[in-house]
Amino acid sequence: MTLRFVTTNPGKVREAREHLASPVEQLEFDTPEIQAEDLGAVAAHKARAAYRHAGEPVVVDDSGLFVGAFDGFPGPYSSYVYDRLGIERVWRLAREEDDRAAAFRGVVAYCDGEEFAATPEPVDRDAGDRDGTERSPDARTGSARRSAPRSRGGEAASREATRERRGQDQAGDERATATTDEQVRGDDGDEGLPVKLFEGVVPGEIVAPRGDGGFGYDPIFEYDDRTFAEMEPDEKNAVSHRGRALSKFAEWYEATDR
Ligand code: IMP
Repeated sequence: MTLRFVTTNPGKVREAREHLASPVEQLEFDTPEIQAEDLGAVAAHKARAAYRHAGEPVVVDDSGLFVGAFDGFPGPYSSYVYDRLGIERVWRLAREEDDRAAAFRGVVAYCDGEEFAATPEPVDRDAGDRDGTERSPDARTGSARRSAPRSRGGEAASREATRERRGQDQAGDERATATTDEQVRGDDGDEGLPVKLFEGVVPGEIVAPRGDGGFGYDPIFEYDDRTFAEMEPDEKNAVSHRGRALSKFAEWYEATDR
């Protein structure tokens, strides 16, 4: 079945094709974006709107640059900041800081109107507030994590404990690039329209602009001694937040009968 990548950016569709054996077509539609701290919530909302528009299986994505010294800013507002300030001014702000660590985070969201069966990966069927927990972004990386349950113990607490244990088992580097895989439900009256989320993270550092390739913040984001703008598209795709999220999505998608 052909998958529609709903985006106005053909580059994202090319990247998706690198990862997926199934056919991927671009469906040009400017999906409405909600304002939220959590990229997953933004991506899930986009996916539902895209699915309603397309009426067939869709993929969308949402990304952001999270600067540690700025408590994760610009994060989900990266597009706005890019348009208003531009990378040169973001660099000038960052160079005042001793610690210029940053991360690109991206979430790929899939919706085909159907439920998802349990998978070997962690599947979160909760919708944040609905189970008495709340999401709070990790300021440094913008990672969505859950705070302790407010009122319910039992199931939610044990899920939290499992997550904590998993976190402790991972080495620091691995944790910085870990991906999550969740299923969320709409909190906007869209009950019954589940969305599966795949997150990719790449840690790096903000540097003075270098390189002519890529787009967006690529010239000021350094990974392994080179900025993303100094890498060939394939090299960037192999390590980037979107590449990691797409690879996780492809692994799941190609293994399902959807
Ligand atoms: P979007 O969610 O993909 O639209 O991206 C939000 C903002 O982050 C936009 O300003 C993009 O230019 C920027 N951005 C997203 N992905 C990348 C990337 O791979 N490299 C550089 N900038 C990116």
